[in-house]
Amino acid sequence: MITSSIPRTVAGAPAMTAATAQPGADACKIGIKNLVKQFQTKDGVFTAVDNVSLDIPSGEFFTIVGPSGCGKTTLLRILAGLEQASSGSVEITRSGQQRPANSMVFQGDSLFPWMTVWDNAAYGLKMRKVPAAEIRDVVGHYLERTGLTRFRNAYPHQLSGGMRQRVSIARAFANDPEILLMDEPFSALDEQNKTLLQEELLRIWEETKKTVVFITHSVDEAVTLSDRIMIMTAHPGRCKALIDVPFERPRRVIELRSQAEYGELVYRIWGYLRDEVQQAKCQEEKKGGVK
Ligand SMILES: Nc1ncnc2c1ncn2[C@@H]1O[C@H](COP(=O)(O)OP(=O)(O)O)[C@@H](O)[C@H]1O
Ligand SMILES: [Mg+2]
Repeated sequence: MITSSIPRTVAGAPAMTAATAQPGADACKIGIKNLVKQFQTKDGVFTAVDNVSLDIPSGEFFTIVGPSGCGKTTLLRILAGLEQASSGSVEITRSGQQRPANSMVFQGDSLFPWMTVWDNAAYGLKMRKVPAAEIRDVVGHYLERTGLTRFRNAYPHQLSGGMRQRVSIARAFANDPEILLMDEPFSALDEQNKTLLQEELLRIWEETKKTVVFITHSVDEAVTLSDRIMIMTAHPGRCKALIDVPFERPRRVIELRSQAEYGELVYRIWGYLRDEVQQAKCQEEKKGGVK
């Protein structure tokens, strides 16, 4: 396995490395070892992520749940290279092709308001100077898969919240990144839209089998979408439990939720999460409700 430093790693800081997959190499896509993230605050050092170690295999839909403020976004930002770890390491195995390292989908709008749906979805490919014919095929495909073909010439302000999130999803998949990072992408949507988007995401993901790291507050959403779920503790954020989600794919959201096994798994995960949510609430109250 060839290992090389990504340029954004600064001297003296722990390495965020990229490895290139070799024939016969193991299928680990994201390797996280003893990851710690601390912030300097006016009250001293604040540990947001505390000693997390994880191996995420290629093609896994991996979800992180945990109470508010436990370090989920911080962990994702480190995977995206937007934040530097304080100690420990993150290694992402590259496929050897000219793909972007990652694409992110956030809760809020991350679309360019002055660009049409088409141009937003094509943005990453254009930046990489992908041939025009390929852009036409790929963007056309993902707009079709997200039901956006009719809206290709619309601007973000002309779309509902659900449609805008569809554009973000189309753009992320069109980019064909090594890994896809999603931070509560559906949490601002109403229940019906959320269910539709979960189904669409599952359909597209099943076609592509991208390695996804997904963050959600919703245990239902985690169980619906994931192969595996990490439950994090309240601050400082550690791995409390890793849970396999055994349900067959392809999954149909509504049918899945009607199964007794589904309810049992949601209940089990809540068993792990309940104390952490309570703990996070106490921490917030101690801070005087700030946050
Ligand atoms: N740049 C920063 N400086 C200081 N503290 C931060 C910074 N970024 C995040 N935090 C703190 O780290 C903790 C984890 O934040 P975050 O990862 O956003 O939590 P989550 O996504 O689980 O809600 C929070 O208490 C947050 O206030
Ligand atoms: Mg967050």
